[in-house]
Amino acid sequence: IKSLPLVYRGKVRDSYAVGEDKLLIVASDRISAFDVILDDPIPNKGKILTGLTDFWFKELDGIVPNHLTGIDPESVVAPEERDQVKGRAVVAKRLKPILVECVARGYLAGSGWKEYQQNGTVCGVKLPAGLKQSEKLPEPIFTPAAKAEAGHHDENVSYEQVVELVGPEIAEKIRDYTLRLYKKAADYAATKGIIIADTKFEFGLDENGTVVLMDEILTPDSSRFWPADQYKVGQSEPSFDKQFIRDWLETQPWNKKAPAPRAPAEILQK
Ligand code: C5P
Repeated sequence: IKSLPLVYRGKVRDSYAVGEDKLLIVASDRISAFDVILDDPIPNKGKILTGLTDFWFKELDGIVPNHLTGIDPESVVAPEERDQVKGRAVVAKRLKPILVECVARGYLAGSGWKEYQQNGTVCGVKLPAGLKQSEKLPEPIFTPAAKAEAGHHDENVSYEQVVELVGPEIAEKIRDYTLRLYKKAADYAATKGIIIADTKFEFGLDENGTVVLMDEILTPDSSRFWPADQYKVGQSEPSFDKQFIRDWLETQPWNKKAPAPRAPAEILQK
């Protein structure tokens, strides 16, 4: 997009300024996992993820305000650029991001499973002993990660560390919203034969300090989706999301040079 100023080029999405207080966020077809952007895009991925997010914003309406303005993305770009944003962009309120990845987990997978094997907890939440990989948790849990700077891995942190980072009021709100959004989405997906094992939300603050849900939600880039009819405790496949990309990356020798993905660390204790 040449007709608007580029504000931020993310791993998957590009954001452009629309006036002072709005952003045009365009979902590309790029695929990224951990800190790596893969060479080959997946055609139309950005459109599918935009469609899914749009569906979930409607389905989950009423829990928390979201960043959508309702402005048609095609109306804010030059006529010759309309095809580039069609079906893959939103015009969103410009927010001050809260630098916490708000993860909800209903099942034990990914970094949750890794951490649990080390010490029986995930982000400081003590779990029952003897759980197996992919096992359903007694209750969904909030397992935040602190967003690291570009090129660094996000770090799982405890709720107390989130309180230190954003204060007790915002911490409580984002935990509460995350769990309510997850539970409602998971209940809906269950009616369609899909288990949402875990997912990640991001929030920002508007000009009044209100917590607002932003970014994409409940897509295969930010969630683990498992077919209920093939679900088995102890097994992590099949997973209808980008888990296979993460698994592949972990086997790549060049990726091993980087620190272990999302290992728990002391980022907030410096
Ligand atoms: O890797 P981990 O088990 O911590 O991921 C938990 C959930 O959060 C997964 O659904 C994953 O897709 C999502 N996530 C994300 N962005 C990150 C880290 C995790 O969307 N940077």
